[in-house]
Amino acid sequence: MNLQELTAYNSNTPLFAVIGDPIEHSVSPLLHKTLYETDGINADYTSLHITDDTLREFTDIARKKLCGFNVTIPHKSAIIPYLDEVDETARMMNSVNTVKVINGRLHGYNTDILGVIATLEKNNIEIKGKSVCILGSGGASKSVVYALLNQGAEITVARRKNSTTPCFADNMPAVNVTTLDNLPDADIIINTTPVGMTASCADTPISDLPERCSFVFDVIYTPLETTLLKKASEKSIECENGLYMLLIQGVRADEIWLDRKISENAIKAASDILEAGVVKNRLAHRKKSSILLSGFMGCGKSTVGKALSDKLGFSFVDADAEIVKKAGMSINEIFEKYGEEHFRKLETDVLKELSACTDTVIASGGGAMVKAQNFDAVKDNSLVIYMDADEDFLYKNISKSDERPLMKTPDPKTRIHELLSSRKTNYEAHNHISINASMPVHAVVYEIMKRI
Ligand code: S3P
Repeated sequence: MNLQELTAYNSNTPLFAVIGDPIEHSVSPLLHKTLYETDGINADYTSLHITDDTLREFTDIARKKLCGFNVTIPHKSAIIPYLDEVDETARMMNSVNTVKVINGRLHGYNTDILGVIATLEKNNIEIKGKSVCILGSGGASKSVVYALLNQGAEITVARRKNSTTPCFADNMPAVNVTTLDNLPDADIIINTTPVGMTASCADTPISDLPERCSFVFDVIYTPLETTLLKKASEKSIECENGLYMLLIQGVRADEIWLDRKISENAIKAASDILEAGVVKNRLAHRKKSSILLSGFMGCGKSTVGKALSDKLGFSFVDADAEIVKKAGMSINEIFEKYGEEHFRKLETDVLKELSACTDTVIASGGGAMVKAQNFDAVKDNSLVIYMDADEDFLYKNISKSDERPLMKTPDPKTRIHELLSSRKTNYEAHNHISINASMPVHAVVYEIMKRI
């Protein structure tokens, strides 16, 4: 929506909004609409691109047309002079992310801090006596610092080495200020810098985690797992991304605006939808329209593919089923009547056809991504995920069915070993992302979502 459209808004449905610059990528409309829909709340939520120059004009219109709004970068402090009242915490922080319109008057609050507190609570993080190091000194850092104050933690804010502006924590006696290259040995690391987000995905704000570290919270949620969080997982350090913080700040804003509780059911629904929304954004960022699962027979391509497509609201296509349709006979029959070579030709044809799919999860046959030609046919359109699984896991799944011609052998374990060994190099060469698939289905689905 733009300011003109907001001025013209005259529906009876209470309207809320998020304002910022930029604003296109905000998932707040998706979040709030899901909460309203699940809890049967008659309200709508939009986003407005508001620059510094249009902030005053916006607040004038908001007084008449909106019931409340969220504020994001870069207006969290700049909005304050236009408000009629500011809650004590928000005033102390000099940061407002939630404004409620009451009889044309604007009341400011900060619910970001509640999102931080909720994230620490969700992970049962005891702050007292801990050394907490916060990476970055921007707006998100401020919310984290205020959430941690007076709880008996030793708080350090680590800034970029070449920061020239004063730090908000310079005059806070309870907070140490240092640089990212001079980190203390902390128990908890909280990243509030944008390093690791979408464009700088492979980067981390720090090259290694401190020895003592037992929890890492990254306020970034796109991708769902940043390189920093991956490092933490690899070291078996507990960690959490920023999606729950985003969710709870939004929920608390709605509770202030609507004077009612948002149900746990709605929070769960919004959490699922947001994760899917983030993955779809990531896929678009990678300029891919679909996801293709590759891997040896029995690694779970079809089961995981169906579950993943459900999560994302995508269609699901099984490449082997398409071959069966095309040939008018089962895979076993194709192999028996015409031989493997003919099957491979049909497989290449089907993959070429599927390379135009949008919003689809494709389960390919176990031999499909062995050939470079097949990978080349799909790789521009689809994000190819190699599901690497161990031989015992594959054997367990394969022995459930007798529909695989290549497994018609008295010694399937040896056949799996030989065939997998001969294909492994090609599977590994022909993918965009490789994951460990020897896990329960839901864990594999989430692993894929995190890595996209
Ligand atoms: C094959 C795997 C099968 C099927 C055909 C050949 C292979 O698919 O395409 O039997 O060469 O590995 P699944 O991986 O779905 O079993």
